[in-house]
Amino acid sequence: MTSFARRAERVQPSAIREFLSLAGDPRITSFAGGYPDPTLFPMADLHAIYDGLLSAGNASALQYTASEGLPELRALVAARLTADGMPCGADDVLITQGGQQGLDLTAKLFVDAGDVIVAERPTFLGALIAFNPCEPDYRSVPMDEEGMDTDALEEVLRTTERVKLVYTVPDFQNPTGRTMSLARRQRLVELAEEYDVVVLEDTPYRELRYEGERLPTIKSLDTTGRVVHLGSFSKILAPGLRLGWALATPEVREKLALLKLAADTQNGTLNMRAAAAYLAGYDIEAHIAGMLPTYRHQRDLMLATMQEHFPAGTTWTRAEGGLFTWVSFPERLDVAAFQRDTLIPRAGIIIVPGAPFFADHPEGNHARMSYSGVPDERLVAGVRSMGELLRQALA
Ligand SMILES: Cc1ncc(COP(=O)(O)O)c(C=O)c1O
Repeated sequence: MTSFARRAERVQPSAIREFLSLAGDPRITSFAGGYPDPTLFPMADLHAIYDGLLSAGNASALQYTASEGLPELRALVAARLTADGMPCGADDVLITQGGQQGLDLTAKLFVDAGDVIVAERPTFLGALIAFNPCEPDYRSVPMDEEGMDTDALEEVLRTTERVKLVYTVPDFQNPTGRTMSLARRQRLVELAEEYDVVVLEDTPYRELRYEGERLPTIKSLDTTGRVVHLGSFSKILAPGLRLGWALATPEVREKLALLKLAADTQNGTLNMRAAAAYLAGYDIEAHIAGMLPTYRHQRDLMLATMQEHFPAGTTWTRAEGGLFTWVSFPERLDVAAFQRDTLIPRAGIIIVPGAPFFADHPEGNHARMSYSGVPDERLVAGVRSMGELLRQALA
């Protein structure tokens, strides 16, 4: 048999996929997925748009287009980014295959084998999956309620050679739901400058803020072009469209576009046309605002039910937006084993054990739980049963 490339060693099945495959089973209550609530997709509007796009005389909707993305869509995304404090034009924006492709392309652009990527502790598992084929080393930096601890980051930057990228999800992070404070955002930009590293800012949940005040993006604080900013339509429109964007300096954006050309030529023209038609002809801000009460309600219900039923010694984060809470159990609880041996067989509940979210030195006593899309009664019943099983397991 031919042997795989060395990078293939780092391409391994994710520890959580086997459980996620259970999520489609109607007997299972899933707090695992973190999928946006499908009842919130603008089905009727998208139906009308696709109907129009596929009518006679519109063959260009099925034609190839520029690999940077459909020009109208780039312009509409640039207008939204400009309104969010990042002045830019259509040419500055690269349309990507979801935010995930932005992670893949940015790592390919900056990271050689043995270079170091610094990530939050914990961090988005999907980013590690995207980065791994570049064979990086990782250093993780602790977080608190203000996001990544920038003093600890400074220590890592001061003492570690070959750091290329600092990866952060500053708004309602996956998996913790935490948001980086303004002071930390400013400090991160200063440190990136001082230590000559690139900041990769990943913001798919940014617009799902259901309380508190919106903070400036890290990109908007960047005066020297060190921040690559990624965003996505997955949580504000629909993930199946596979549409995201990257905003970076012309030099970086051009290279990312060439890597995208190599990877997949372009995003699907039809979906880019549909998203452009949606942004131009419908009110996406009203659509987003319309989703927020549902997520706020689901978060409140999950946290209140945990408060009532989860045993002492268990703590969780309270996110001001996004889809997740990060639950920390007493250290002696191995969450992966608890899920496999108890939670699934006895209660039909799935969560995501926290260990794979650590770029280094994993901890086994945490879980990511999502409240998105679980009907109220199931949510309450599920959290209550989980609480009972936890009490027994910890007794
Ligand atoms: C932090 C973060 N980044 C990126 C992504 C990728 O999403 P998509 O490719 O659907 O835009 C996700 C999806 O869950 C995410 O949580």
